[in-house]
Amino acid sequence: MATEGLALTAEVAARGKLSAVRAHFYHDPYAHHFVPHSARERSLGAMINSGQYARVAAIGSVVEQFMAAVGGGCGQIVSLGAGFDTRFWSLHASALAPACYVEIDQECVVQRKASIVASSPELLRALPEGRACCGGKGIASAHYKCLAADLTDITALERALAIAGWVPTVPTLVIAECLLVYMKAEEAAALLRWFSERCQCAAFAAYEQVEPDDPFGQMMVRNLDERGCPLLGIHACPTVTAQKQRAIDLGWSHAEAMDIAHFFHHVFTKAERRRIRRLEMLDEVEEFELFLHHYCVMLAKKDEASEHLFDSLTLSRPIDRPPIDAEKQAVYSSAPVCQTHSPLTMPGSGLCDAHQTQSAREQSMPLLPVTNICETEDDLDHTPDWCKDKADQGVSCGEYEGYSPTSDHSHP
Ligand SMILES: C[S@@+](CC[C@H](N)C(=O)[O-])C[C@H]1O[C@@H](n2cnc3c(N)ncnc32)[C@H](O)[C@@H]1O
Repeated sequence: MATEGLALTAEVAARGKLSAVRAHFYHDPYAHHFVPHSARERSLGAMINSGQYARVAAIGSVVEQFMAAVGGGCGQIVSLGAGFDTRFWSLHASALAPACYVEIDQECVVQRKASIVASSPELLRALPEGRACCGGKGIASAHYKCLAADLTDITALERALAIAGWVPTVPTLVIAECLLVYMKAEEAAALLRWFSERCQCAAFAAYEQVEPDDPFGQMMVRNLDERGCPLLGIHACPTVTAQKQRAIDLGWSHAEAMDIAHFFHHVFTKAERRRIRRLEMLDEVEEFELFLHHYCVMLAKKDEASEHLFDSLTLSRPIDRPPIDAEKQAVYSSAPVCQTHSPLTMPGSGLCDAHQTQSAREQSMPLLPVTNICETEDDLDHTPDWCKDKADQGVSCGEYEGYSPTSDHSHP
């Protein structure tokens, strides 16, 4: 069962991402909607901003490659523990959103997200049904669903995916950005195994904390423990190699993983690293390296249909700019999903099968009633009850998934 402490990590992640956006590490015109006004101005510094950007870029690169591989917006994306992630809106604005984008999180997070979306004309523009698709139980738009389920319960996950119109035979990218490590080892394994067994053609991208046993790692584990969101799974999967092996053991045919230090120095191009370095002064270079070594990204794939759809999907594709290029957003802002003129679409593909099946299914799917909706942007200043105590203290759940600049990791 998930906890309020874990719900708080979603808020902290949203603040961290907005901090990186405000410092121009990457562009996300939607991030500010999910952060209360009172927390929008504070910069978390070069180290955390760089880490947030690397995290968003690592997952974003996989998403871009996946959408290019499936073509025509025909794949499906399932984001587990999505929190206040804004990726759907960026993809939509770039005409790259898939026919089926599903987010699952615990109820209090989903309710809050639905409430924020319902009160924002800018976010609602991506949802053809407008406010009517946002309600107390989540969001049920034609191509985007945000639903509540306890991800430690596979039956609940199955139910949510069925409601969302997810089709196991359609190529799927599953994203778990800072989720699995907060679960017990057997719960995280159950998720990885379930998707590998149910899908014929799928990829699974995860971002996790690793290396819990050195002084920095001990500090990271302790920080999150003290704040009520322990890293329950970190000791069972403590290294990059273990991350890779876990995916293989659980039925994925290929897996790669790298720590974020490797990602930072070898996947970001030299020019992009230079751009990042110029944004903010990084005082503690050694500490930055340590920090990067304690986070990793993993990509697992399987393709039983042998269509070689994901052959080139990799974590190593060089990144020379922020993913989901912001420049495209103005051009494609009103474009519907699954269309033929997307920059990454094969010409003439038209409406895909998954899209058609989904539309038919949606006709019998009731929209959720609208309740608890914020009326104005100012309502968002009210910190939700579940995170009042800790958020009011200014720092919560580690500024960056366990790392806090004020922590003294050299003396565990
Ligand atoms: C660290 S946040 C990450 C949010 C988002 N993926 C991001 O990176 O911005 C972890 C998220 O996982 C969710 N979560 C953790 N355990 C869960 C569970 N058992 N069921 C559903 N959601 C869960 C939390 O509510 C939270 O939103």
